[in-house]
Amino acid sequence: MREFVYFSQSARTSGNFDSSDLMKAGRMDIAIHSFIQGVFLSHGFRKDTKFHFVFYGQPDPPKHIEIQVKDELEISKKDVGNLIKKILYKYKEGKRTEALPGCFVEKKSFMKVIEELSEEGKEIFLLDKKGEDIRKAKIRDNCVFILGDHEGIPQKEFKRLKKIMNLVSVGNKMYFASQTVAVVNNELDYRGI
Ligand SMILES: C[S@@+](CC[C@H](N)C(=O)[O-])C[C@H]1O[C@@H](n2cnc3c(N)ncnc32)[C@H](O)[C@@H]1O
Repeated sequence: MREFVYFSQSARTSGNFDSSDLMKAGRMDIAIHSFIQGVFLSHGFRKDTKFHFVFYGQPDPPKHIEIQVKDELEISKKDVGNLIKKILYKYKEGKRTEALPGCFVEKKSFMKVIEELSEEGKEIFLLDKKGEDIRKAKIRDNCVFILGDHEGIPQKEFKRLKKIMNLVSVGNKMYFASQTVAVVNNELDYRGI
């Protein structure tokens, strides 16, 4: 199993956004592009991948959404915005809700999500331009990669994470969030992880 955790300070935390204007929904477009690179293949899905979103935008932060594509989930690359809307609409206070098959929503902070993944024994990496070259990094199964949106990971959280996990880089350029997900997936595919 491989997992991605996408952090956004601005992505909307309720389903009442316009899916035809995703930039205005706290740059939901970036979240969606990253998700597509995370779980879609040309003729299928990466069913061994979990994608987490942690959104801190208005009106009800934070929201943690977890998606693992299951056969029963109706999903299209053209309509991920509406999928996220539906999941957010199904949020119930004080609960982790399975909004759709394989899709969960709950109120949980970014650091709590990371803490729980760590307690599950996952090996966690923070994607950062200045990190160790991913091609040289030791990576085992059950790995997790954290990335930020266009604004990256806030300073305070970044400093805390840096102390407890390895930073890995996918190259010496600042890439789009979605591009880094594609590179990580490709590297893990080559290694057969
Ligand atoms: C567009 S970048 C964020 C830019 C933001 N201004 C910053 O300084 O963090 C989005 C995310 O992609 C990841 N990223 C971008 N370039 C990377 C690289 N060369 N290696 C690893 N991760 C990278 C980081 O996780 C970053 O938070």
